[in-house]
Amino acid sequence: MGLRGRLLAAFAYVLLLVIVALVVPLALNLISRAEAEAEAHAQSQAHLIAAAIAGNMQDRAELRRVARQAAGDLGGRVIVVGSRARVFADSAGRGLEGRSYRSRPEIAEALAERRPVQLRRQSRSLDQELLVTAVPVLVGGKATGVVRVTQSFEAIERSGRRDALALVGFGAVALALGLGAAWLVAGSLARPLRNLAGTARSVADGNLEARAAREGAREQRELADAFNEMTGRLGGVLEAQREFVANASHQLRTPLTGLRLRLEAAALKAGNTELERELAAAEREAERLSRLLNGLLTLAREGGDPGPGRPVELDLLAEEAAERWREPARRSGHELVLAGDGDAVAEASRDDLLMALDNLIENALHYSPAGTAVTVEWSQNREWASLAVADEGPGIAPAERARVFQRFYRGASAASQPGTGLGLAIVDSVARRWGGRTQIEERRPRGTRIELVLPRAPGFDEA
Ligand SMILES: Nc1ncnc2c1ncn2[C@@H]1O[C@H](COP(=O)(O)OP(=O)(O)O)[C@@H](O)[C@H]1O
Ligand SMILES: [Mg+2]
Repeated sequence: MGLRGRLLAAFAYVLLLVIVALVVPLALNLISRAEAEAEAHAQSQAHLIAAAIAGNMQDRAELRRVARQAAGDLGGRVIVVGSRARVFADSAGRGLEGRSYRSRPEIAEALAERRPVQLRRQSRSLDQELLVTAVPVLVGGKATGVVRVTQSFEAIERSGRRDALALVGFGAVALALGLGAAWLVAGSLARPLRNLAGTARSVADGNLEARAAREGAREQRELADAFNEMTGRLGGVLEAQREFVANASHQLRTPLTGLRLRLEAAALKAGNTELERELAAAEREAERLSRLLNGLLTLAREGGDPGPGRPVELDLLAEEAAERWREPARRSGHELVLAGDGDAVAEASRDDLLMALDNLIENALHYSPAGTAVTVEWSQNREWASLAVADEGPGIAPAERARVFQRFYRGASAASQPGTGLGLAIVDSVARRWGGRTQIEERRPRGTRIELVLPRAPGFDEA
């Protein structure tokens, strides 16, 4: 689950807890309060009626009027009985007048005890719970009658429930508002983190100039600052390291050249075949060391600013390289072939491309058997110019293809060959420095084709 989801879940949990803890007791309280109020109201109304009619219980017409009016006000039924429990007036009509209500417990009790009686009763005829309130009509301490009010409990409960429902609705709105706010807060927390992750990935991809935006809460801004500081330092350290490797390689070159010259001179003076062989071997080692230094120097420039590119005519470049490799190819028993269709002009540095091509041709001569052809190819399309070297050797196994571009990696086929493991790393570094890429293809029936794809120089149209 994302940060936003987690925060939202936590918020929802707390909000629900608080709302339930508040709303449930409040709603129950509301319902019981509504009931208590209805009971008190019924009693006070019954008392009022009793007081109003105490003086003239004989005026039936007046009693009926009062009963009807009170029934309308209270939303129930009002009857007035005399001292012997006979009905004097009934808000529901005159049908029951004269009937004895002594059997009704509330009326009997109110008459006997001369005090108000209130009870709940299930009405069988109406099939609902009734609130029954009976108040004696007292004249000089004697009960001259009873006012009885009956109300449906359902109506009272309904109003209580309505209030409780309103409360629950209020709780739901509060929950929705709280979650909305949490959604916004969670988003504002998550966004800077996501942006920071994006910047970190950009740095990981080699863009050491990438900086995180300072946004969000104070802690998040601190994190962005710390991240930027770290990236800045990292850039500095890498730059220093690059410089160090470049300087060291450069400084080592001069004494190495001196060493080679001396070995050569010594070999000339040796006059002893055994010693000459040893000196020739030492010279080869020195040559290898010098190649290694050149490679390191090239790779040390990686990531630095290559400066502006120039149009490089790949056909001329291929011819020049072929010229240089003609003799070594003859010695190793390879046929060096040039194969291009028309012009191809890349935007890059000539020296860089020559170095890459040298490495590719050298590999092809090293790793393919004598008697086969090594082909240097060039071509271009709308966007890209390409330079490739193809051989008829053992090929590079798919599992090895990504690794052969790593520095110092030497493949299975390299065991018997001299080499530094820097050749293809340099080719790839050159391609990337000029905005291009390298790709390895398998050839049928056998062989490898390694291609350098570079941006085409603008303004050089296909011939
Ligand atoms: N043309 C090729 N055919 C087969 N294997 C190759 C070829 N070019 C490169 N390789 C493999 O890729 C590895 C890395 O090449 P490279 O970086 O030039 O290092 P090196 O040639 O010094 O070993 C080699 O050791 C070899 O195993
Ligand atoms: Mg090589």
